[in-house]
Amino acid sequence: MAAYDLIRHDYDVAVVGAGGAGLRATLGMAEQGLRTACITKVFPTRSHTVAAQGGIAASLGNMGPDNWHWHLYDTVKGSDWLGDVDAMEYLVRHAPEAIYELEHYGVPFSRNEQGRIYQRPFGGHTTEFGEGPPVQRTCAAADRTGHAILHTLYGQSLKQKAEFYIEYFAIDLVMSEDGVCQGLLAWNLDDGTLHLFNTSMVVLATGGYGRAYFSATSAHTCTGDGNGMVARAGLPLQDMEFVQFHPTGIYGAGVLITEGARGEGGYLTNSEGERFMERYAPTYKDLASRDVVSRCMTLEIREGRGVGPERDHIYLHLNHLPPEILAERLPGISESAKVFAGVDVTRDPIPVLPTVHYNMGGIPTNYWGEVINPSDDDPDAIQPGLMAVGEAASASVHGANRLGSNSLTDLVVLGRAAAIRAGQTVAPGQNRPEPDEASVAAALDRFDRIRHAEGELPTAELRLSMQKAMQRDAAVFRSSETLGNGAREICSLAGRFEDIRVTDRSMIWNSDLMETLELDNLLACAVTTVVSAEARTESRGAHAHEDHPDRDDSSWRVHSLAWANGGDFRLDYRPVHAEPLTPPEEGGINPAIIAPKARVY
Ligand code: FUM
Repeated sequence: MAAYDLIRHDYDVAVVGAGGAGLRATLGMAEQGLRTACITKVFPTRSHTVAAQGGIAASLGNMGPDNWHWHLYDTVKGSDWLGDVDAMEYLVRHAPEAIYELEHYGVPFSRNEQGRIYQRPFGGHTTEFGEGPPVQRTCAAADRTGHAILHTLYGQSLKQKAEFYIEYFAIDLVMSEDGVCQGLLAWNLDDGTLHLFNTSMVVLATGGYGRAYFSATSAHTCTGDGNGMVARAGLPLQDMEFVQFHPTGIYGAGVLITEGARGEGGYLTNSEGERFMERYAPTYKDLASRDVVSRCMTLEIREGRGVGPERDHIYLHLNHLPPEILAERLPGISESAKVFAGVDVTRDPIPVLPTVHYNMGGIPTNYWGEVINPSDDDPDAIQPGLMAVGEAASASVHGANRLGSNSLTDLVVLGRAAAIRAGQTVAPGQNRPEPDEASVAAALDRFDRIRHAEGELPTAELRLSMQKAMQRDAAVFRSSETLGNGAREICSLAGRFEDIRVTDRSMIWNSDLMETLELDNLLACAVTTVVSAEARTESRGAHAHEDHPDRDDSSWRVHSLAWANGGDFRLDYRPVHAEPLTPPEEGGINPAIIAPKARVY
């Protein structure tokens, strides 16, 4: 192995990732006086949160009646009863204060006529526990809400003197012999140096792994890096089979057209010009939850009612909306439609197709962001020294299907919660044991092996094979056959990583090496996704199994856990937290209201 000099850093906390969750955690930790490093492979304001469009859900009630009980009901139902109810209650109850905090930090939200934060309808968000009309709950900054939040949080984090390590790629966690996370190893892409961060707490905020698929709304940087590190540390990933397809990716390009477009009155049609969602979801129609709309679109196409020369997509109409509303509330997607589909939204419909958008699964945590490493006698046992937030984590506030605009809520509410928790568990400047030498050596050894890999298989070729297999076999609809094929194929592709070829051996801006490290992370995500999906013989949320079309609460209201460390693979399960935090006599929701039932919109 080549000799590497390590530059050593000591911090109370290292946050890996500078998207909405990473920055909100960084800001909160720094505000409390914890010495905080934020390590990010892209410039913070280029993190994928910048692409979040439609908004952030909170029951502010600025546009009509709303309350957290309704938000909780919608979130539990949206999750298809797989989410942890305590975590979901924490999410929806703290959402309003987290939004006002963002407003005070400087997020330029759009305004209603009274000057309050503007809120729009989004899929699956309702009034009267799903019996009333859609609610306007999604707080928006036009259709650039993530952009507004990210820039504000970065500015505030700098103000609090958080220290940023920008364009550093996190390689692996450093774990003590007795299983405590002690920090991480990272590579400075810009000058080629390697850095050892010794910390009391690592917070993984590395986002999702949409790029395991061929067509995704996710940025090319969404490669599940935290998930890969966790898997290699011998820890489990949770509920990986639940991959969300957003109904309206631009056909061909995969670029997101916000659900806010339907919130503002847009609707879908098939080749017969029919507003087909009225048939499938008579009450909420185009504003049913995402998994439902994506399945209906797929069925229309399968049954020959798709549009276009190959009848393989669907139309989204906005051309009936006043041009001034489009210009004020949906300027970003009006531009995307022009650039990526050549469509003037004031005149023509946008060609759209369900596209991979979000991972409900990830690193298991409680709602404080503490990573869970279940033991035989404690399914909720906490992994010392490690937290996870945002899309990388599975808290689980989204269960089997996330409601649109609950993601930004998750980032800021649980990012903030992680900071509060770290403030309670980490003492500023506390003494830390020396990082485990064997763990550092193992991380360096893996890095060096990949850097000098001399196999036959180019990274891009293996990545493309994985992306095509995932797109084909772990899609909107799955079956025993597709999942069996997918599991075999993806496991075999993961095995072929041993034969990878890296041609550039340099340490400075070596994108060949970085993409290969990313591919290793993606493969861990892909394997755990298909194998967990193959095992789950029911349909729930985003997991629509054609051979097992019904939800089976008696056997399957459980979280999947998948360990994938090298060739070792193991599956297990842990119980869902079905109880809310607050009893009804103290103002909590009546548990009967959120008990499992048929999920209709
Ligand atoms: O449709 C959108 O604007 C996406 C929002 C989300 O995923 O929460």
